[in-house]
Amino acid sequence: MEDKEKIAIKALDYVENNSVVGLGTGSTANYFIKHLSRRIDQENLNISVVASSTASEIEANKYSLNLLGFDTLEGLDLYVDGADEISPQLDLLKGKGYDLVKEKLLAQSADKFIVIADSSKKVKFIGENNLIPIEVLKDSWRLTKNLLDQLGNGDLRKNAKGDAYSISSAGNYIFDYKFKEKNIKLLHDSLLVIPGVAEIGIFHNIADNALIINNGDIEIISLNK
Ligand code: A5P
Repeated sequence: MEDKEKIAIKALDYVENNSVVGLGTGSTANYFIKHLSRRIDQENLNISVVASSTASEIEANKYSLNLLGFDTLEGLDLYVDGADEISPQLDLLKGKGYDLVKEKLLAQSADKFIVIADSSKKVKFIGENNLIPIEVLKDSWRLTKNLLDQLGNGDLRKNAKGDAYSISSAGNYIFDYKFKEKNIKLLHDSLLVIPGVAEIGIFHNIADNALIINNGDIEIISLNK
């Protein structure tokens, strides 16, 4: 069994009966969905789920989980998701899977947000290995880009084939940017006030715990919010 699957199983420790669980996006989150389904069946648990993206919705339906509509949700007990980068301060970079608005809404609304990843996601600072995703309103993207260009360089994300621009499930475009500002709190705050920015890939001060696995050894990073 690969590390990603083992860490997804470890996250089941945080699941309680009679609860609402948010499902993240990506290969590690998919393992969590698979093992959550197995545990629900084995222990006959009463658990409802909510999906952070079209991809996780498809996974939830594959296992016939009790999927709640996003628009009906008033809160959730637990959100489990992967990440693209994790800093020692438990800041995260997310958004390779496009759905930043839903991912952050679930992460911030959950009573507990657990990040699961292998050790390849550990970085010294956010932005070390990846560009920073910025989800922007579609109709006004050029004006928003002009404002973002004052802080760094980037462009609209293309789809996998490279013949069209990527669109989130909220109907927004995604930019991928490199910024000059290295202080993550300052960068986070300066991006979120730009008109037309719907959400950014920096998750600052949101996660409760990161479960990180390296060749079977598990490290837990905690944040005292
Ligand atoms: C989705 O938008 C991202 O935030 C994912 O959580 C991230 O890409 C992790 O994916 P893997 O688990 O496949 O590495």
